Amino acid sequence: MIGKISPSLMCIDMMNVERDIKILERAGVDYLHIDVMDNHFVPNITLSFDFIKSIRKITTLPLDIHLMITEPENSFHYLSDCSPEDMICIHYEATSHIHRAVNSIKKLGAKAGIALNPGTPICMLDDLLPDLDMILIMTVNPGFAGQKLVTTTLEKISKLRKMLDEKGYGHILIEVDGNVSFEHAKLMNERGADIYVGGSSSIFYKENSILENCRIFRQIISNRRNRSTENIGASQA
Ligand code: DX5
Ligand code: ZN
Repeated sequence: MIGKISPSLMCIDMMNVERDIKILERAGVDYLHIDVMDNHFVPNITLSFDFIKSIRKITTLPLDIHLMITEPENSFHYLSDCSPEDMICIHYEATSHIHRAVNSIKKLGAKAGIALNPGTPICMLDDLLPDLDMILIMTVNPGFAGQKLVTTTLEKISKLRKMLDEKGYGHILIEVDGNVSFEHAKLMNERGADIYVGGSSSIFYKENSILENCRIFRQIISNRRNRSTENIGASQA
């Protein structure tokens, strides 16, 4: 599939959120990535559930909600107004009851994803694959924009793509988040990533306009990855 762009709103100009979201819409981005933190699971606080409510009033783009909070299942009631195209992603490391939490996301009517920190191996997902729409590979340790890529995560993307294709889960999307610069996006694309979170090193790279950054980014991630016909069929079912 052609790569999808999910600009990270923690990097947007907070004084001009509505203006810049309109620009992102014009640029044809696919999602809006919203990082919710609790200063517990990660040592930072960024966007909130209230912010998500406000964003819904100004856009119809699907939301790509990344919950970096401990026991996310206790906060799902804040997301009761999600749409079927929204993705809600929780961390494998953030709850003792990951299977139950993923299924609660499904009950909300959204697509369900699990994020893995750089130190968490992909084998932890084995028994969860039937329930997942998306897997987010954190390519930095979560919590802050502007960090350096953890290079071992590149190999992890290839391994995950291979594992999904071999097990018949080729329809599960792989998202990458953290220092997804233009240069790194190319490497991630070659390894089979589908959704790219664009932050301070790409979509909001200060040397260019947002429109220009989106144009460059789109070009880099437009390689079509090969999937077996069987898997493509499964994704459309
Ligand atoms: C944290 C965030 C960041 C960020 C990415 O989960 O999603 O990874 O905004 O942007 P940069 O390019 O600054 O790493
Ligand atoms: Zn994120």
